[in-house]
Amino acid sequence: MPILGIDYEKCNDCQICYNACYRYFRRDKELNKMVFEDPNNLCDSCGRCIARCKSDAILYENFGEFLTFEEAQNPSTLISYDNMHKFMSAKRSIRGFKKKKVPKADLKKVLDTMKYAPTGANIRTLECTIISDNEKIKELSGVVMDAIIASRLPRYYENFIKAKKYGIDTIFHNAPHVMIIHSENPGDAMNSTIALTYGMLCAQTLGLGSCWIGLAHGVLSSSKEIQEKYTGIQGIVWGVIIIGYPTQIYYRVPPRPDIKTKGLEELE
Ligand SMILES: Cc1cc2nc3c(=O)[nH]c(=O)nc-3n(C[C@H](O)[C@H](O)[C@H](O)COP(=O)(O)O)c2cc1C
Repeated sequence: MPILGIDYEKCNDCQICYNACYRYFRRDKELNKMVFEDPNNLCDSCGRCIARCKSDAILYENFGEFLTFEEAQNPSTLISYDNMHKFMSAKRSIRGFKKKKVPKADLKKVLDTMKYAPTGANIRTLECTIISDNEKIKELSGVVMDAIIASRLPRYYENFIKAKKYGIDTIFHNAPHVMIIHSENPGDAMNSTIALTYGMLCAQTLGLGSCWIGLAHGVLSSSKEIQEKYTGIQGIVWGVIIIGYPTQIYYRVPPRPDIKTKGLEELE
């Protein structure tokens, strides 16, 4: 349990900790101060109490990196809607890559952004495996292609047979890195998707391109044997992306249909 209590030297009794978390903070009338109580160790360590306390009076341990920057108080000052909208709408699935590995430091930056993605009840069980060995990527691509050919899905069958014959990687598109998100927690489906999405957006800020590879995810998650033999991953595979320096340039943003919405017209 990383929250240890309250530093009363710093606490000014503003009670914002209660506002951040009514579960484990309360005002004790007899003691005439705020107290932190979690007798059953139920606190999920979301850290909101630490982040909201202006006097930095929450005592904690093992929280790892704690970012403090002024804009955290008002994140809208960091990026405008127009820039964000352009940045997100210009994010394309990239399927052509330079034959260049991404520096470890940049992959670490991607992971460092992914770790800030929200997770249900702040349960942090996601793990990531990055495959960067070209031969291993090729081997896994071949196995995934074989599995899809064997399933005889009309959408892929003939194309994949041709691709195999000519040695074309229709799964990982010769990407320098394959990133797989996985865990032992059966509740991580949404958490993993959000985290990978954070990672892909972060990658774009570093000049990297990426693409979801649902085909590889489908094959890995339906065959424990392939999963363990070719990725070494135990547990549940939740998502697969490729990542690297793009060779593809998009000159414009393709149109997308509006999301069908109810309840907007009646608003001002
Ligand atoms: C869940 C999911 C699975 C996907 N699987 C694949 C895949 O296996 N191979 C691939 O080349 N693209 C895959 N894509 C990329 C989609 O084809 C792509 O997002 C879509 O065509 C829209 O293009 P855009 O991402 O450039 O806007 C996947 C995308 C998502 C969201």
